[in-house]
Amino acid sequence: MSGSSARLVRLGVLVSGRGSNLQAIIDAIEGKGLSAEIAVVLSNKQTAGGLERAKKHGAPAVWLDPKPFAGRPDSREAYDRAVLEVLQKHEVDLVLLAGYMKIVTAVLVSAYENRMMNIHPSLLPSFPGLDVQKKAIEHGCKVSGCTVHFVTEGVDEGPIVIQAAVPILEGDTADTLAGRILEQEHRIYPRAIQLYAEGKLRVEGRRVVVAETGQPSTGFHNPE
Ligand code: GRF
Repeated sequence: MSGSSARLVRLGVLVSGRGSNLQAIIDAIEGKGLSAEIAVVLSNKQTAGGLERAKKHGAPAVWLDPKPFAGRPDSREAYDRAVLEVLQKHEVDLVLLAGYMKIVTAVLVSAYENRMMNIHPSLLPSFPGLDVQKKAIEHGCKVSGCTVHFVTEGVDEGPIVIQAAVPILEGDTADTLAGRILEQEHRIYPRAIQLYAEGKLRVEGRRVVVAETGQPSTGFHNPE
C-alpha cells in the first residue's frame, strides 16, 4: 500500500465477535501502510473480543447494549440512531462492519451512503447470510472466497469493492475453508480501505470503479 499522500480516514468499526478483521486493520495502520485511524470501535456485545483489541490499540471502545431498545416497534432504528450518535461524536468518515451480527437500518445506511463497507465470507452474490462456508461446500462449489462491499439496505447486496477467490479443497470442512477465507479477508479489507482513503473508489450503480484506472477488475485479488 502506498498511502503517504492520502489523509487519515477516521474509521468507525462495528463488531460483535472476536474481531480478527479489526485486528488486520489495526495491524495495517500500525504497519504505517494504511492511511486511516480508528476513531471508535462499537459493539452490540459486551464480551466482543474486538473491544479488547481496540483498547489495546488505544482506540475508544464502546459497548452499546441493545436491551434498552428492545420491545419497541422501531427498536432497530432506535438502536441505530444511538449508534449514529456515537459515530458522529467520534467524527467517523468510513464505517466498517467487521463481523457485526446486526442488520443495519436505513438510519445508518442513509447517513453513511457509499461510506459504509462490510466484509462477507463468500463470493457475493452467491451465499449471502449466515453459515456460508458450509453452504458453499454442500452446494459442491469448487471456488469460494470473500467480498468487501458497500452497505445498502439489502443484506449483503451492495456494490462490490474487492473480492478474493479461495479454492474449495477435497476434504474441506466449514472450519478449514473459513480459515483460508479469513486469511484473504485480512488482506482485502485493509486494501479496500486504502483505496477509499486514496479517493479511488467511485460507485456507478452496482459497479465500483477504481477511479484512476477505470478498471472494475482491479477489485479482483487472487490469493498470493
Ligand atoms: C468474518 O468471516 C466476516 O467475513 C464475517 O464475520 C466474520 C468476522 O470475523 N462477516 P472476525 O470477528 O473479524 O474475526
